[in-house]
Amino acid sequence: MAHQVRAVVARGKGAPVSLETIIVPDPGPGEALVKIQACGVCHTDLHYREGGINDDFPFLLGHEAAGVVESVGEGVTGVAPGDFVILNWRAVCGQCRACLRGRPWYCFSTHNAKQKMTLTDGTELSPALGIGAFAEKTLVAAGQCTKVDPAASAAAAGLLGCGVMAGLGAAINTGNVGRGDSVAVIGCGGVGAAAVVGSNLAGAAKIIAVDIDDAKLDTARKLGATHTVNSRNTDPVEAIRELTGGFGADVVVEAVGRPETYQQAFYARDLAGTVVLVGVPTPEMKLELPLLDVFGRGGSLKSSWYGDCLPSRDFPMLIDLYLQGRLDLDAFVTETIALDDVEKAFERMHGGDVLRSVVVL
Ligand code: APR
Ligand code: ZN
Ligand code: ZN
Repeated sequence: MAHQVRAVVARGKGAPVSLETIIVPDPGPGEALVKIQACGVCHTDLHYREGGINDDFPFLLGHEAAGVVESVGEGVTGVAPGDFVILNWRAVCGQCRACLRGRPWYCFSTHNAKQKMTLTDGTELSPALGIGAFAEKTLVAAGQCTKVDPAASAAAAGLLGCGVMAGLGAAINTGNVGRGDSVAVIGCGGVGAAAVVGSNLAGAAKIIAVDIDDAKLDTARKLGATHTVNSRNTDPVEAIRELTGGFGADVVVEAVGRPETYQQAFYARDLAGTVVLVGVPTPEMKLELPLLDVFGRGGSLKSSWYGDCLPSRDFPMLIDLYLQGRLDLDAFVTETIALDDVEKAFERMHGGDVLRSVVVL
């Protein structure tokens, strides 16, 4: 039996999204049907709508979600109907060369549902990041469902499915921030703010938040930043050096995704420190650095995809910390909205005061 549900679809490049009825098949082998309770609005959804990811319109948007498993297909043992889950876009295969080397967070062959969801006329939909959760129900690979404690609020939990996990993981997984470290975070939107929270959780002694927007800096301070720098009127490299005894920070997280801010991150780190790029650049961006500085400054330059997370390891642990009051995920939920407000949320995205708009169903 197929299910008819309401969902947010991007039909063509740059066109406003529309609320449509879609057809969701019953789960086949290895698949799960999930009743969505909440889904955050992420930049990547907007990139899909703008045709910036690929041209496989129509897209079923939404990928930062939590919900309850409604039914599972043949052979599924990891989750069962009734389980409260966060959806992930890294259902690792266990068999590719990354998985076999014990580095599944680099899995090259992650799982998605095999069956297609469609419009009522049969047109196949491309679900954003293999999820498509601005919908009353969605179909995913069972491995994309990570079971967590159902006491968590769905709006907060869903955020671990993308942006918040990306920022937290950039600090704690990729940057390996540890007790006593100094950290600078350049760009304090949803992702950078999560890197601030992650650094705090990991015991960083100094957390310097950098942004061009004072409202974002105020939020960063509330979330654990010990210092803030508005880089619109202050040179962030000098400011970070001054705040770290002239040396630079042990770890600098770049959460904007631009050459200028990457360059700031590169020079604001301590000799042999670590730069983590979690902001996503566009294809035409180029970086120019004296190669001698790259050599002479040593250390490591890393990028962080999805916070190098392993959903099965990280989501339940972070939800437990949230329920213990040690990780304030609720602070990232700026507003809850309805399914037909996604277009408005896109418009608000770049205004200073929104970390996340979350669709609640
Ligand atoms: N210097 C410092 N901060 C900047 C600059 C700059 N030159 N330009 C923009 N910013 C700040 C903005 O003021 C904003 O607070 O960067 C932040 C970006 O935040 P959001 O737009 O909310 O984006 P976010 O969801 O945090 O994602 C950041 O990570 O995952 C990627 O695709 C995502 O590239 C994006 C980045
Ligand atoms: Zn793999
Ligand atoms: Zn996302």
